[in-house]
Amino acid sequence: MKPLFIRSYKERFQSSLGEISNLYNSFYAYHPNGREAFGELLELIEKTFAERSAHLKERDAQKLNAEPAHWFLSNDLCGMSLYVDRFCGSIDELKNELDYFEKLGVNLLHLMPVFESPAEASDGGYAVSNFRKVDKRFGTLEDLKELEAEMRNRNMYLMLDIVLNHTSDQHEWAVKARQGEKVYQDHYYFFDDRAEPDEYERSMPEIFPEAAPGSFTYIKECKKWVMTVFHNYQWDLNYRNPRVFNEMLDNIFFYANLGVDILRIDAPAFIWKEKGTRCQNLPQAHALLQLIKICVQVATPGMAILAEAIVRPHEIIKYFGENDKEAEECDYAYNATQMALQWDALATGDTRVMMAAQDILLRKPFGTTWITYTRCHDDIGLGYDDYMIDNAGFTSYEHKKFLKEYYSGNYNGSPAKGALFAVNERTGDARISGSLASLCGLEAAINNNDAAAIVLSVNKILLMQAMSFFIGGTPMMFYGDESGYLNDYSYLDDEGKSYDNRWMHRPVIDWNKNENVDKPGTIEHIIFSSTQKLIGLRKSIPVIADKKNLTWLRPHNIHVAGFLRAWDDDRVYCLFNFSNRKQSITWYAFKENGMRPTKLYDHWSEQYFDVGGDNEYFVLPSYSFFILEPK
Ligand code: GLC
Repeated sequence: MKPLFIRSYKERFQSSLGEISNLYNSFYAYHPNGREAFGELLELIEKTFAERSAHLKERDAQKLNAEPAHWFLSNDLCGMSLYVDRFCGSIDELKNELDYFEKLGVNLLHLMPVFESPAEASDGGYAVSNFRKVDKRFGTLEDLKELEAEMRNRNMYLMLDIVLNHTSDQHEWAVKARQGEKVYQDHYYFFDDRAEPDEYERSMPEIFPEAAPGSFTYIKECKKWVMTVFHNYQWDLNYRNPRVFNEMLDNIFFYANLGVDILRIDAPAFIWKEKGTRCQNLPQAHALLQLIKICVQVATPGMAILAEAIVRPHEIIKYFGENDKEAEECDYAYNATQMALQWDALATGDTRVMMAAQDILLRKPFGTTWITYTRCHDDIGLGYDDYMIDNAGFTSYEHKKFLKEYYSGNYNGSPAKGALFAVNERTGDARISGSLASLCGLEAAINNNDAAAIVLSVNKILLMQAMSFFIGGTPMMFYGDESGYLNDYSYLDDEGKSYDNRWMHRPVIDWNKNENVDKPGTIEHIIFSSTQKLIGLRKSIPVIADKKNLTWLRPHNIHVAGFLRAWDDDRVYCLFNFSNRKQSITWYAFKENGMRPTKLYDHWSEQYFDVGGDNEYFVLPSYSFFILEPK
């Protein structure tokens, strides 16, 4: 049988109808509007395909025929995530910056939310008041369409968000709900008194305990409580109502038909709530995502979907679908575990905790992939499990305390300059804010005018980036990191931002300073040109495409993490020394996986190495990495 994604629309529709109906009815069969809403859903799918432009259908076909099995597994993709206004002002201006990305090697852009969001209560655009109108701060929908067309001409890819879990309290539905319209109150979780909210809160963790304690907000106009898991201006949508599902799917299709290649589903872990649970990662949330995926696959199959599920490792992996739904949920998930573990290894100089998590991460199904990253617009959560820390021989409480102190600059001798985010006084939990460069010590090194420390911090930056470029998945850089941006403290003067220190690592790009990327000798140039080289290497080594082809090398040295990427006869060994001293591993490490290379070429340093005897050593300088191909 032909795989679902290569069939014609009609075949896709017919063969998926049963499953769409099963999934839909598992939620809405007993809802008074359920039957009618199901009819509307099918019409919506038809209409979306009918309205999909010829060029997007052609691009769908190209993607479906691409090698490797799915276009998004390719080693040719490299992304950057950015705030349009802080990067260059407007969407229109961004069109003029496409050369900059091409120069660097970036061919996938994640535009942080550009749809309408109230400036004073926006959560960086994640409180959307109109899912179809581009916020005038960034430009117009026309500008976005022009940008998409230009990117398509250049063979670049576009990623946008759908904020599925909540709307802004100024969204039309919320405005009407506040005025007392029951139909719209039913789009959210509304309660007459505190009885049910209290029940929910007994088991719900707080997301922003400092800025937005609790998970419900009192709305005085209608004298009711509404669920607000994130900030009090972000009202949680109620997917028990089929109208909410249909409306949001319609928005998803709207983005698909704009030409979005990857849809980032914001906070999918939260979309279903059940009293007595943490209200995260519930089976119903997964079923809703499976329903979205199958509808997308029928109507707009060129759009991949990405789960932004920043949860425990064994929960993240479920967003790819499991058991009979394996590889039938999200195409992508963020490898938040690996990201945090790289920060762990960088601070401790020890890779054992990172290793302890890998058996779970390797469970990712074939045909799905990660977004790999070192930094993004959010904080770094130490979201891996305590048992991983314990298995590595540490005490989890002390270990996490050390990491928090190390990165917030409270550990004697730490060069990192960051801050604690979302500190929960009750549980002691906290996450970490700070830019890649500042957390790697560049800010302190520059402030101290310490040339050696500058070199060291640049090496750390590149080590962190290299690992996420080669480990498998689509790397997503964060804007500014390509030129070593330090923390930006100007957010403290802005009332709409000062309560949220994640703004310290969301810089406003100074293009005069950024011209240094072309001036040899400057820090910006060193970081930019090295990043450019890393991206070029990634694209030139086909075995880096994510075909579930990663084998970790046995830990011959706890300071060094190494993996083999292999496909047929192609092999690349990638090694990373996280310690501040030179380290060595026996040459035997290269001979364990069915091959005994005699010569290795390092693509990064452009050197050859003769493979020595098992009693001899390969030496890695402090914070160095190697991309070694047998020759
Ligand atoms: C996601 C976003 C984060 C936002 C939250 C609520 O986690 O990445 O920035 O605060 O969702 O929408």
